[in-house]
Amino acid sequence: MAMDVIHTVAELRARLKSEAAIGFVPTMGNLHAGHIDLTRIARDRVATHGCVVVSIFVNRLQFGPQEDFASYPRTFADDADKCRAAGVDVIFAPTEAEMYPESQNYFIEPPEIQHILDGAARPGHFRGVATVVLKLFNMVQPTVAVFGKKDYQQCRVLDNMVRQLNLPITMVLADTVRAEDGLALSSRNSYLHAAERAEAPQLFAALSKIKKEIFSGRRDFSAMETVAVAALTARGWLPDYITVRRSEDLLVPVASDCALVILAAARLGKTRLIDNLELT
Ligand code: PAF
Repeated sequence: MAMDVIHTVAELRARLKSEAAIGFVPTMGNLHAGHIDLTRIARDRVATHGCVVVSIFVNRLQFGPQEDFASYPRTFADDADKCRAAGVDVIFAPTEAEMYPESQNYFIEPPEIQHILDGAARPGHFRGVATVVLKLFNMVQPTVAVFGKKDYQQCRVLDNMVRQLNLPITMVLADTVRAEDGLALSSRNSYLHAAERAEAPQLFAALSKIKKEIFSGRRDFSAMETVAVAALTARGWLPDYITVRRSEDLLVPVASDCALVILAAARLGKTRLIDNLELT
């Protein structure tokens, strides 16, 4: 069946009203192989009789005033081709006026987790993400929603929101898709110049080194973090953080914690890259 491209909530409701199972992949467009992998997972979950919906909306609410909202890559025609080739049933691409017809003054206010790590570097970001995702959930009313674990803190914020607000949605958190050299796929990779692109896998290398050290028995997380930050800084990066946290709430682990994740955010030239590695 041909893919539908829908811009309004009314049309979306009409299109989806008789669908028994809806698999949903929310995106901001500029789709890459990582997003396409999420659509494949959504398809697996709802099977051939279900409907796979991808939303494309660059959400002003989650960008800070100094951030790249205006320059964020908008590549709709290309995204639509990729979705079509991947067997997506519906693209939902609301306009700004459709998403925010009036000034949005009700928000989802996540707890402390919204203020740490990426939330400290990007005040208001997770409140903007959680608010638009709840709105998208209400518009699409999916059975299953799929998010990539590259945005680990986002996954935690949204998974907790769905659980605490009893949303009838199964959350699927998918493994990060990487380039052959280890770099996590991200729309922002397109900002990297050739030399920066060659350097970029060092972020994953730094995470992998810490993972190896932890597996070899080290528990002096803060010493490992300091060495990793210094090593990246020496290579010309500006790290925001490289840190070992509990995977559940992203707080600093205590001795008995064993479900851990190493998270990193660092600026390479003008581009801020994030990545993480779970330790299970
Ligand atoms: O991960 C993203 O692309 C965005 O944060 C999301 C979930 C689509 C909300 O705008």
